[in-house]
Amino acid sequence: MQISGASTLITGASGGLGGVLARRFASEGAKLILTGRRRDILDALAAEIGGEVIAADLGDPEEVDRLLCAAGSVDILIANAAAPGSGRLATLEPVHIDRAIDVNLRAPIILSQALAPQMVERGSGQIVFIGSLSGKAATAGSSVYNATKFGLRGFALALRAELARSGVGVALIEPGFIGAAGMYADSRVKLPPGVGIVSPERVADAVVGAIRHNRGEVTVAPLALRAGASIALLAPELAARGTRALGGDRVARCFEEGQTDKR
Ligand SMILES: NC(=O)c1ccc[n+]([C@@H]2O[C@H](COP(=O)([O-])OP(=O)(O)OC[C@H]3O[C@@H](n4cnc5c(N)ncnc54)[C@H](OP(=O)(O)O)[C@@H]3O)[C@@H](O)[C@H]2O)c1
Repeated sequence: MQISGASTLITGASGGLGGVLARRFASEGAKLILTGRRRDILDALAAEIGGEVIAADLGDPEEVDRLLCAAGSVDILIANAAAPGSGRLATLEPVHIDRAIDVNLRAPIILSQALAPQMVERGSGQIVFIGSLSGKAATAGSSVYNATKFGLRGFALALRAELARSGVGVALIEPGFIGAAGMYADSRVKLPPGVGIVSPERVADAVVGAIRHNRGEVTVAPLALRAGASIALLAPELAARGTRALGGDRVARCFEEGQTDKR
């Protein structure tokens, strides 16, 4: 589908990957609608690249409805916002669990449900979900994030099947660890040797490629991580043992500490 001139709603535009996506879509000629909670960051981004700002808390169902009303007609939805919700289950308060589920899973579902009919009526549109390798591979200290990203994967694949032949594409982009910007980079966690990262620009390329070529599921990660995630889908217990042997429990504790402020 044509990106130039398309009304494109990007959630989480105030975040690391969201900012890179917004700049990339601006350079492709999209008409941007930028959302997130932090209006100051969104206003500064819009001053740089253009676009309309609608600040909204996706953890609040009324705010999701208000965002939808204010956004109006949307050709491309990029459901990118997420809370890491990381940490051992015992360390999370119910409010953290609710927020991660609402932002990472409920909001993308409600936004798609509201926006898909107008796209179907026009016979064109794209819904892009930013998932994660955590939607394929479960790890200790990440049960709530895993639950939301596994759920998002199921939802995205089913919605793609449901909208096949409607002219509306659905894509799920699954990055591994993203360097330079975003929730992993902000956590300052040191990964075990050999675990590579990808740039946010590479993820943005994958989003643009998925829209242009109507790709369903795109994993953006170094080969070793992609292979690990495939093994995790087929043999989760084997993959969990491998992750533990590579120091996964230490890394999980580091994420728990490094992402407390984003719960
Ligand atoms: N970074 C990685 O290594 C990595 C790897 C795989 C997948 N991902 C996925 O990439 C996407 C972007 O993440 P990121 O790395 O860019 O993280 P980030 O820098 O922490 O950005 C998260 C974005 O989500 C928004 N958000 C969080 N809670 C919200 C709420 N209650 N209401 C509205 N917006 C909310 C934040 O905006 P406000 O704070 O302004 O509300 C922010 O714009 C996520 O779906 C994430 O799961 C990231």
